[in-house]
Amino acid sequence: MENFVFYSPTCFVFGKGTEATAGQYVKKFGGTKVLIHYGGGSVVRSGLLDRVKKSLNDCSIPFVELGGVKPNPRSGLVYEGIDLCKKENVDFILAVGGGSVIDSSKAIAAGVVYDGDFWDFYQGKRIEEALPVGTILTIAAAGSEGSPDSVITKEEGMFKRGASGDAIRPRFSILNPELTQTLPAFQSAAGITDIMAHLYERYLTNSEEVEVTDRLIEGLLLTMIHEAPRVIENPNNYEARANIMWAGTMAHNNSCGVGRSQDWNSHSIEHELSALYDCAHGAGLAVTMPAVFTYEMNHNVMRFAKAAVRVWGCQMDFEHPEVTAKAGIEALRNFLISIGMPKNFEELGAKEEDIPKLVDVLCNGDGRKGSISGFTTLNEEDCTKIYQMMV
Ligand code: NZQ
Ligand code: ZN
Repeated sequence: MENFVFYSPTCFVFGKGTEATAGQYVKKFGGTKVLIHYGGGSVVRSGLLDRVKKSLNDCSIPFVELGGVKPNPRSGLVYEGIDLCKKENVDFILAVGGGSVIDSSKAIAAGVVYDGDFWDFYQGKRIEEALPVGTILTIAAAGSEGSPDSVITKEEGMFKRGASGDAIRPRFSILNPELTQTLPAFQSAAGITDIMAHLYERYLTNSEEVEVTDRLIEGLLLTMIHEAPRVIENPNNYEARANIMWAGTMAHNNSCGVGRSQDWNSHSIEHELSALYDCAHGAGLAVTMPAVFTYEMNHNVMRFAKAAVRVWGCQMDFEHPEVTAKAGIEALRNFLISIGMPKNFEELGAKEEDIPKLVDVLCNGDGRKGSISGFTTLNEEDCTKIYQMMV
């Protein structure tokens, strides 16, 4: 196990009806003027936005609103949010929605207190300072409610890039699984796929002797395999929603990623797809992961075989561990298809003729130097082959 510092100061408030406490938590964490940031309207239709406003009003906390965050959130609305916060002297950002809303909120929070262009943070500058952010989560997926990360797409060039810093870890996150019961099955499945990807990206490590985090990841993956079909069958299954929601937070607040190197090649390769085609991030990952894992498999066959046996219940073939490893990847692919995820470029809405463009932006865009690196290092030729495997 490698040395690590684990800092995860977010206050998680979990359970039924907890959104009614939003005002109290804003107050507790020092907010006196709030920006409520939300997406394309699901929180308006469900009545959640009204309940959140009531909670702020009950605590006499003034607020302004900015809706319209799109999935794969764009830089344009971030600039608008920064201007609004400066004009209105906002000192706390309350994200009401999914990963896209939370990421847009984090970008605004960092941008308000920074003299330069907020995009600097998405080109590698670490976020050291930001307004405090609180979240009320409506979809179990990205894990942004507990992560120090934000992913934004810059409209010019459609670069989808991430920024990081402990300053943007939410001060509190309200997790009420009931709020996820209005999700369409496709969005639930895309979220589940993203959670599983966050676990796999950590499982694929070059660090030795990391049994405790291996076992945590395996346990969370087994939970997803158990609970996913239950929410697809019955969207109102509160207990299954609850287990998925907490698994989603645990999968990405890095409690199961400490002390080990991680992969993230699947995420980098996927981000180009959701940037270009505006597909759901989880749906893109469903197509990306089996291809990347098959390509990376020989780098450490035993690691894939271990997941195959411990997570997917495959029989270990000691003479041919690659057979076991492949069976595990196939089991993952079939599972994702069974919950309604796409299996190839066509089903995702991606085009084979775009592969050179995808590879160029992936490997050379925005300051990169011809490759990406995680569990393995992948150059332009590798990435081309991986995208071709998805066709
Ligand atoms: O915009 P509204 O109307 O709210 O609709 C959303 C959106 O269309 C809808 N939705 C959310 N909650 C709902 C609901 N519909 C009905 N009922 C509800 N309760 O679902 C759609 C997707 O929402 P979005 O926020 O985009 O989903 P998700 O949480 O999957 O976030 C995806 C974004 O997060 C980034 C992804 O790249 C993508 O841009 N990620 C962020 C990470 C982070 N900050 O740590 C890590 C992840 O790996 C990921 O890259
Ligand atoms: Zn993800």
